[in-house]
Amino acid sequence: MTVCEAPGKVYLFGEHAVVYGEPAVPAAIERRATVTAEPRSDDHVRVEAEDLSLDGFTVEYTGGTGDRPDVDVPTPLVEAAMGYVDAAVEQARDAADAPDAGFDITVESDIPLGAGLGSSAAVVVAGIDAATRALGEPLDRRELADRAYRAEYEVQDGQASRADTFCSTMGGAVRVEGDDCERIEAPNLPFVVGFDGGAGDTGELVAGVGELREEYEFAADTVESIGDLVRTGEALLEDAVPAGDAAAGAEPSPELLAELGELMDFNHGLLAALGVSARSLDAMVWAARDAGAHGAKLTGAGGGGCIVALDASDATETALSFTQGCEEAFRAELATEGVRVVEP
Ligand code: PMV
Repeated sequence: MTVCEAPGKVYLFGEHAVVYGEPAVPAAIERRATVTAEPRSDDHVRVEAEDLSLDGFTVEYTGGTGDRPDVDVPTPLVEAAMGYVDAAVEQARDAADAPDAGFDITVESDIPLGAGLGSSAAVVVAGIDAATRALGEPLDRRELADRAYRAEYEVQDGQASRADTFCSTMGGAVRVEGDDCERIEAPNLPFVVGFDGGAGDTGELVAGVGELREEYEFAADTVESIGDLVRTGEALLEDAVPAGDAAAGAEPSPELLAELGELMDFNHGLLAALGVSARSLDAMVWAARDAGAHGAKLTGAGGGGCIVALDASDATETALSFTQGCEEAFRAELATEGVRVVEP
């Protein structure tokens, strides 16, 4: 039995603009998906999902996407969970050159589902890692991240960036620009997440930004300004923790938090101008700012879902928990370690 766990993520800066070639900086958070893989003697795949913010279920099928298992839970939820597990199993079979390998898979997750926190990427990364290790063919991290990206790309019909899967594999803060992904050093940023219980339609939101960009030069300029802002934020992080410095994971200075917070506020304003915020997200952002957070912004595609704020004190989490429209508020430490083996 092999058990691996992989973290979710927030966007410190740069979502949406990353679609147009600007850099983005996602950061892994200590909320993880845990996948257990036990090879079987036949080619069947049995999936047990214990907690994916959805009712638990167990399905067994002979493998291969398209099989719709006969279970009594809502189709979209099963399909969402199954699609990712299925794609992870296919990648593991391919990587280990074991096309008929069967598995008993168990998925547990404390990452809210479909809320811009990278829950599906975490399941795919932990799933491929656990399944390839169970077959005695562990992958190096770059290949794991690449295969996880391909799995997401397939399930999401080409609507996937490398951000979530790379960040979940490597941990820490990462920089993504097109196909170039690298880890960047970051201090232990005090993230607080607010979740409105919903989710936006990523495809629709991305398309909306695309249309605005086509129609108005100032919308295209807004996207470019987000890129400038990301580069400014990156430089701040780099100055705070020079590459290879042992201070990575150390406590950030108050000046750095103030400056990063200001950029997050700015980033949220630009995203709102591009039409991807929502009343619930704005309410949570303002509640965080009023509580004294250094800064706050929506994270991910927007339209609903999560905001991320910077605050080392409890004030933001408390304020969010009393904010109308906020279903869940929690502290989310930077996950300096990406995917890891819990049981070999
Ligand atoms: O909501 P998420 O975490 O899947 O992030 C979407 C990020 C976008 O930049 C809006 C789209 C993308 O694929 O990069």
